[in-house]
Amino acid sequence: MILKNLILDSGNYYTTDLNTKKKRFWDPNRSKICAGLKKGINMLPITTDSKVLYLGSAEGYTISYISDLADNGVVIGVDISPISTQKFYLLCKERNNLLPILASANEPDSYKHLIDFKVDLIIQDVAQKNQVEILKKNADVYLKEGGFVILSLKTTAISQGKTENIINKEVEKFGKDFNIVEKKRLDPFEKKHILIIGKKK
Ligand SMILES: C[S@@+](CC[C@H](N)C(=O)[O-])C[C@H]1O[C@@H](n2cnc3c(N)ncnc32)[C@H](O)[C@@H]1O
Repeated sequence: MILKNLILDSGNYYTTDLNTKKKRFWDPNRSKICAGLKKGINMLPITTDSKVLYLGSAEGYTISYISDLADNGVVIGVDISPISTQKFYLLCKERNNLLPILASANEPDSYKHLIDFKVDLIIQDVAQKNQVEILKKNADVYLKEGGFVILSLKTTAISQGKTENIINKEVEKFGKDFNIVEKKRLDPFEKKHILIIGKKK
């Protein structure tokens, strides 16, 4: 995979910092997308001018790397936690392609007045029972035709049942709206998680 601003060096991933242009280490133990890369994901559907909606931006760790990759684009982070969003807001002040929204991703219409364009990619990392439903609801409102999604699915947020059974059921739901491009379990970086990349049908 060749992505401008993504560097693979001695088995580790780095990005080129949007501001300083220095190499930044991307920690797979802190970021499920980086864990997916380490596990052999072959493509990340991000270009330098991508418009990205990131659901579950938290304090901004992973989204800061997405901001490096889409350095000429726009990356919008949505999170329900006021404390995390306060910290993320400070990061947005340092990075001119990042925007924060404090809202529940369960209610995509509640931030419609803040996003008046369609995005190329939705990334989602929210530990909720209805993770696939949240992704579909947002894709219906914000994703371009033929746009991509990256879902980090946390099975324990859905139930304590057998991981494989939960994954099969959720992947089936996901497959109704998106063509599956790639999927990878994230062990040992994240146990009981799967990263799924899809393309809007
Ligand atoms: C695992 S953390 C995300 C970590 C982040 N993606 C990263 O890698 O840097 C999950 C985040 O989802 C947020 N969250 C949970 N439910 C949400 C919802 N309904 N809408 C938006 N954010 C939500 C939490 O507040 C938390 O910050």
